[in-house]
Amino acid sequence: MPAEKVVLITGCSSGFGRVTAETLARKNCRVFAGMRDIKGRNASNSREVQALAEKDSLPLSPIELEVNDDASVDRAVAEVIRAAGHIDVLVNNAGLTIRGLAEAVTLEQVRRIFETNVFAVQRMNRAVLPHMRKRGSGLLIHISSQAGRVVLPGLGMYGASKAALEALVESYHYELAGEGIDCVLVQPGAYATAIGQNADKAADELREESYGSGSEIPKTLVANLGKRRDPQEVADAVSRLIQSPAGKRPLRTDVGVTGDFVARLNKFTDEIQKEVLKVFGLLPLTKFRSRAESQK
Ligand SMILES: NC(=O)c1ccc[n+]([C@@H]2O[C@H](COP(=O)([O-])OP(=O)(O)OC[C@H]3O[C@@H](n4cnc5c(N)ncnc54)[C@H](OP(=O)(O)O)[C@@H]3O)[C@@H](O)[C@H]2O)c1
Repeated sequence: MPAEKVVLITGCSSGFGRVTAETLARKNCRVFAGMRDIKGRNASNSREVQALAEKDSLPLSPIELEVNDDASVDRAVAEVIRAAGHIDVLVNNAGLTIRGLAEAVTLEQVRRIFETNVFAVQRMNRAVLPHMRKRGSGLLIHISSQAGRVVLPGLGMYGASKAALEALVESYHYELAGEGIDCVLVQPGAYATAIGQNADKAADELREESYGSGSEIPKTLVANLGKRRDPQEVADAVSRLIQSPAGKRPLRTDVGVTGDFVARLNKFTDEIQKEVLKVFGLLPLTKFRSRAESQK
């Protein structure tokens, strides 16, 4: 049976990316699992994915992909199109976090987190969109976070990067609706991935310590994030989005978030945003249309 959808995922060495790659391949998607440095730091991760694909005859291949590098991104996208003929879905998953008081985060650290969580998404989208727009179909899925929707002090710089992602993706969502392309966000709560151990810490410790008891804010937050959930839930949410019909996918899908804060905010801003678009003469952008329909 031919694979249903061709999917490229960034950041598949661990966590959501890894689980999502396997989940989608088992659902008959042809999956290209992006990893950076597959001959070096991710050599064993790449081998494991390759071995799994061979053992279970899955349409799953690791592919070199450093999201912060133009040439690497262009090569990966060209390679997927060469091998599979086209790309149906891009999952922008690669990401970093940083813990600590906002004032203690150095500019170098701010640049690093925005480079991966925001600028790299723009790089990936610009690499695949000409191809998707030419075909008049496609799906861009972005792994955001509850921290991009509600403010979590102690994770402020991470939240700022994900809030930037949320705003950018929402704009893409409207701008691409008339091109037959869906562009959506997934907003996970706290999950058991490698993100905690890979987390950066605000580098200016003296600045943080000078807050006295305030320096405990990041610790308090992390202690109250609750039991980390199974990343499979996020992979399943991504899978459901891929299986949903074009134009029927929600802009935002929250998964495993404590309480209903994010869901309520999403509902509220959906309503407000429609009013905003109406005021600016852009309400038609809320209607998903094929390219042919748009050009009538
Ligand atoms: N886990 C959670 O609780 C949670 C909650 C909300 C949102 N998220 C988001 O979910 C996404 C995935 O994170 P995760 O939780 O699965 O954490 P993870 O296990 O640390 O995975 C992050 C992935 O991103 C990759 N990556 C980082 N920088 C990269 C770069 N420059 N080029 C290519 N790949 C790069 C990492 O590769 P290397 O191994 O090579 O570093 C790794 O594969 C992130 O966007 C994160 O912000 C996570």
